[in-house]
Amino acid sequence: MESVCAGNRTGGSNPLASAMPKNRCSILLRDKMNEEIIQIKGLTKRYGYGDTESFALKDFDLTIRRGEFIMIMGPSGCGKTTLLNIIGLLDRATSGEYILNGEDVAGISSRRKARLRAKKIGFIFQNYNLIQDLSVLENVALPLVYINRPRTVRLKNASDTLRRFHLQEREYYLPSQLSGGQQQRVAIARAIVSDPEIILADEPTGNLDSRASIAVMEELKSIHEEGNTIIMVTHNPALTVYATRVINMLDGQINTDIKTVADQNLPQKIEVKRTRGKAKRSRKSNKGRKN
Ligand SMILES: Nc1ncnc2c1ncn2[C@@H]1O[C@H](COP(=O)(O)OP(=O)(O)OP(=O)(O)O)[C@@H](O)[C@H]1O
Ligand SMILES: [Mg+2]
Repeated sequence: MESVCAGNRTGGSNPLASAMPKNRCSILLRDKMNEEIIQIKGLTKRYGYGDTESFALKDFDLTIRRGEFIMIMGPSGCGKTTLLNIIGLLDRATSGEYILNGEDVAGISSRRKARLRAKKIGFIFQNYNLIQDLSVLENVALPLVYINRPRTVRLKNASDTLRRFHLQEREYYLPSQLSGGQQQRVAIARAIVSDPEIILADEPTGNLDSRASIAVMEELKSIHEEGNTIIMVTHNPALTVYATRVINMLDGQINTDIKTVADQNLPQKIEVKRTRGKAKRSRKSNKGRKN
């Protein structure tokens, strides 16, 4: 593990370190490239019993490394959403093992599960799922309620995140006053505002035209380049150019699984730990760090 704050004191060349205030932070560039963030073994999701029994997932195995951008494809009903919901702790499997960040989720309380979800996982849905009565700013600030951030911090963080998506002028709009593409970018801002490591996206471009789809994919690409792990379901094969791995599912199982980027070339996550004072997490791309 490398600490780049030393660069701050010594006037080193790390641009991220030199951007941080002196003695206020410790930025850790952690070599987690090959770390397995999700391990799924023998997962089965069964609906009904006897004559009505059916399987959305069957003896499903999957290991996901930090920094992967996975696209999941497959025909309607093959279990893509079911898998995403289980990974996102919104649903539970009938049997099998799911290890998230080294922790077996089967044994944890629903309260801990909710907290884990709030801290670690951001969701993006096809229909945006924004709360229509809340402003754009309040929608984006919402996940920070679940991790107990004070209101002023919530609104500041939400505003900063919206600026990144060039939506700061729409902060006080209602979702219905935005285009589909803008609403989805607000939903992406909401998904990342709490700085989760895993982004789950279920057909995020399904309702968008090709221009808005590209804008959304470019945002996801930059989030990925910061070392975040993205698992996205899509029916659009053209979008697989953004993926580092493409999984095709069939009848609740993996049909094909192709990695297009080697594990050692996946982007790394930069973590900022507060030591003294308040350190702001930088969302600068670490694209140039890959090598
Ligand atoms: N609550 C439920 N009760 C019974 N069966 C269900 C339930 N939810 C999902 N299923 C079944 O599980 C299977 C997988 O559903 P899932 O929603 O995961 O498919 P999908 O691959 O996401 O499909 P799509 O591409 O249409 O979104 C389907 O056959 C579906 O009918
Ligand atoms: Mg689905």
